[in-house]
Parts: sequence; structure tokens; C-alpha cells
Amino acid sequence: MTQVLAADAEGCRAAGEALRAGELVAFPTETVYGLGGNARDGKAVAGIFAAKGRPSFNPLIVHVIDLAAAEPLAEFSDAARALAARFWPGPLTLVLPRRADAGVSELVSAGLPSIAIRVPGHPVARAVLAAAGVPVAAPSANPSGRVSPTTAAHVRAGLDGRIAMIVDGGPCRVGVESTVLDLSGGDPAILRPGGVTPEDVSAVLGIPVGFAPPPAADGPLLSPGMMASHYAPAAPVRLDAIEVAPDEALLGFGAVAGATLNLSPRGDLGEAAANLFAMLRRLDEGGYRAIAVSPIPDRGLGLAINDRLRRAAAPR
Ligand code: TXA
Ligand code: MG
Repeated sequence: MTQVLAADAEGCRAAGEALRAGELVAFPTETVYGLGGNARDGKAVAGIFAAKGRPSFNPLIVHVIDLAAAEPLAEFSDAARALAARFWPGPLTLVLPRRADAGVSELVSAGLPSIAIRVPGHPVARAVLAAAGVPVAAPSANPSGRVSPTTAAHVRAGLDGRIAMIVDGGPCRVGVESTVLDLSGGDPAILRPGGVTPEDVSAVLGIPVGFAPPPAADGPLLSPGMMASHYAPAAPVRLDAIEVAPDEALLGFGAVAGATLNLSPRGDLGEAAANLFAMLRRLDEGGYRAIAVSPIPDRGLGLAINDRLRRAAAPR
């Protein structure tokens, strides 16, 4: 049985202690719920892959409380420090050259010479990290390939009985995962669009920052979040829908008529991102033949929303 803890001081302390002891604990971040394990403990990290049923070539994001806790894990360039100063704590993950003496499980990096690090801004995540006192590897707390969780109930629906604890901190504010930015060598490139927009990153670096090209079919997987089918509800997803069939659900955006659910009736991309995964789940539970989705503008957080929707719609 998975224990559900209140996100109070006692719950966060208990969660931190369990993490340090090698147990798996799900906790809220501002983006989505994470499935945490002690990054220094290879058995705990392996347990994350097992609980998620995740292909083991996927590297994990290591969560730490601040830049000072991140520095011993990776080589920080001036650009990396500037981005950390601007966006940490917050929804930006930096992929950096891993330090030889990082002292975290090799499995975290899945054999890559880099490591992904993020400093979350959610007060509950921060309290849990402070109590844990160790770097915490945490992918989204969902079975592999499924929609990411933005509430404790979502986590329980996917992972009950497979992890020790869930800290219930209510719904996540941002709703899509962090932006993953590759600073491990070569030109900076976004591996996964997310809570921090490409414009935000470009403004700090003073150069335009684009998306990494998709990996060659037989090449190494640069960021496994780039796997085509991902974030998939059980029902097929149809994008850029203008019309909707009688047996389809319509996930609307903006002032559309006849939406079964609407991501943001007023057309706000932040509100839409926060609603995305929970609404996909609710529609999936409705037993529709398919989920049709209104067009979403491809700018700002819309880039992250469309990225997740394209994966949800990809052939499986
Ligand atoms: O918002 C988030 O980032 C959430 C919360 C829990 O913090 N976490 C999350 O983790 O989404 P996960 O494991 O579902 O996604 C990690 C992403 C994947 O796209 C993975 O490929 C990429 O980060 N990644 C991790 N380490 C990497 C590395 N060394 N090189 C390239 N990509 C890496
Ligand atoms: Mg995920």
C-alpha cells in the first residue's frame, strides 16, 4: 500500500527521511508530480525505472535545493550560471557535463557523459528536498508512456502499491514538465519545450536558441523525452480539430463551441498548460472513440502543449 501524506512539515520531513533511506516517494513540483529516489543510491534509482516500467536508456532529472547543491554534480559554464540565476528555482532543467566526482548513480545519466539538473520552485518539493539532504532523481510520477500526473490522485491511479509514499500538495501550477536545455557542449539547444519558453532562454543568453534536431532513427537518443509516442491517453488523439464527430470528445481552446472540456475558454496558454494533463485524463475516462483537440497557437507555452499533444497523437 502506498501511503498518502499531507504536505505539512511532518509529511515533508517523513518524505525526506524515506528518500534518504532509499525509498520511492512521489511529491509535487510546480510542473508535474515527480517520482523521487535518492540519486546517490543505485538501487533506489533502479527502483524508479522498475516502478514506472520505463525503458532504462532514459536518463533522469536530478533535483536539488539550489545552485550550491548543483555545482558539485556538473561543470557549470558562465551561460549555465546565468540561466540558473534567472530561472532557478523554476521549470528549467539544464543538461550539463557530468562531473567525474558527482557521486550519483551512473544509472541517473543512463550512461551519458551529461547530467540533467533542476531546482524546483514548489514549496513542498523544496521542503522535501531540504529534508532529504541528498540529490533526488525524479521523472514524472506516471507509468512510462502515460500522461504525466498533476494531482496526487493521478499518481495513485498509476503507481499505487509500487511506491512507498505520495506527498499530496494539490494540483500543479504549471502543468507541463520543465524545459530541458542542452548545455553539455556545442550550441545550446532545447531538447524538450516546457515551462520556460525558448524566448525566455534566448533573452538571457543573448542568442536565439532553437530546438535540437530530432535524433536519427538509428542514432543515439539525445533526450528520450523525444520518443515519438509518449504522454499517451488510451483513446486516440486528433489534433487541430475544427469539427467534431458525435462519438468524439472535443478538448477546446479559446472561444470554441461545443467543447466537452476547454483548456482555456479565454485563450490563455498558461491556464491551458495547467489543465492539459488532467483534462486529457478526464476525457480518456469518458470512453470516447477519440479525443479531438482544437488548434493551439505555437508560441510561448503553446510550444510545450503542442509538443505533448503531438506525442499523444503519434502512432503507437
Ligand atoms: O518538470 C519536470 O521536469 C518533471 C518534474 C518531476 O521535475 N520531471 C520530468 O522528468 O519530466 P522525466 O524523467 O519525465 O523527463 C526527463 C527529461 C527527458 O526528456 C530526458 O530525456 C531528459 O530529461 N534528460 C534527462 N537527462 C538527460 C541527459 N543527460 N541528456 C539529455 N536529456 C536528458
Ligand atoms: Mg515523463
